[in-house]
Amino acid sequence: MTLVPEINGERLLGRLDAFARIGATPAGGVNRQAFSIEDRSARRLLAQLALMRGFTIFQDGIANLFIRREGSDAALPPLMIGSHLDSQPTGGRFDGALGTLCAFEVLEALEDAMIEARRPIEVVAWANEEGSRFAPGVMGSMAFTGTDTAAWKSIVGVDGASLATELEATIAALPEARLRPTGMPVSGYIELHIEQGPSLEKELTPIGVVTAVQGTRWLEVCIEGSAGHAGTTGLSYRRDPMVAAIAAIHRLQTTIMPLDASARLTVGRISAQPGSINAIPQSVTFTVDLRHPQLERLDAIEAEVRAVCAAEVDGQHCSATIRRSFDMPGAAFCPDMIKIIEDAAESLELTYKRMISGAFHDALFIARVAPAAMIFVPCRDGLSHNEAEYVEPADAIIGARVLLQATIAAASR
Ligand code: GLV
Ligand code: MN
Ligand code: MN
Ligand code: MN
Repeated sequence: MTLVPEINGERLLGRLDAFARIGATPAGGVNRQAFSIEDRSARRLLAQLALMRGFTIFQDGIANLFIRREGSDAALPPLMIGSHLDSQPTGGRFDGALGTLCAFEVLEALEDAMIEARRPIEVVAWANEEGSRFAPGVMGSMAFTGTDTAAWKSIVGVDGASLATELEATIAALPEARLRPTGMPVSGYIELHIEQGPSLEKELTPIGVVTAVQGTRWLEVCIEGSAGHAGTTGLSYRRDPMVAAIAAIHRLQTTIMPLDASARLTVGRISAQPGSINAIPQSVTFTVDLRHPQLERLDAIEAEVRAVCAAEVDGQHCSATIRRSFDMPGAAFCPDMIKIIEDAAESLELTYKRMISGAFHDALFIARVAPAAMIFVPCRDGLSHNEAEYVEPADAIIGARVLLQATIAAASR
């Protein structure tokens, strides 16, 4: 008798709760930043669950974690499914964890039903997707797809920790995992994720079929002025980088997005040096996160950021240096993989819509080496990178069911 593989909803929801306890914040979110103690605990829990089911676990030099279930032809490159387990400092419980745990649930559902796929299937938890502690993000998938990581050795986190040290400790915390050689081929990749925006919920559509990811560019602006005494320095003597920074940010926020509905510009971090209440700062540094589906517009917006900063620092007799710290062009996903996901949704009689991802994901990098695509599920009020992030249990289960069908199809080819 052949069993039909089924998602075990109760098991999936229980797992989501268990992982949400690792790094839980009082406001109901998680703080499980890359390579932290909490990140290591989540990796350990997933590894333990995998070993209990008899799967093999691997990790590589950047601490990507792979859980492998063999297929009938072990020589074939595996199909990969997964997401990430690290979070923002005040992150939600579903960003990354949902996709990783749905992927693991798919592996267990196949195991429960004793279905032997043709290809090996590997669940992957990519390392440092968020990049909030150690920039840049998507480190795991970048390293996996051949990015030169030599310069990363000297990266220092926002908390002053050394990436090299934290990475080494993270890898050492999972001695049961075998070393996965780099450069092994992959037959395809499917990532399930929460939409992180409002459209699916608003349109009462349970499934988003992601056809592309928009581009991201990160800039670091450092405005240099002249430190001075807050009480004695009159207006005409000031070279205040804070005034220049605020003016530049205000101008950017009131021009870029209002004039281009597809553009996104976010200043998420700002700091003044030396940061004393009664001193005019010597310098002010802020970050700019730019997104746009069109590369030419990203270039144009970056040029505008540079021009606005130059004009505003001039007015304060300050100077600015602008460094591009991350540049990730957008990419379109593979039509075959997109079709597999659409077929999966149709076979379950679910409505779906095609969409472009506003957030970046590891799938963007894996798409460079293998056919890839993504499944989105709705999240409440479109909230993400927020402790209040929430996914309806029914929507999580529906997403997992689509992932299961798509995985069966892709692993049988
Ligand atoms: C990552 O989560 C991003 O899109 O910023
Ligand atoms: Mn994510
Ligand atoms: Mn995220
Ligand atoms: Mn992301």
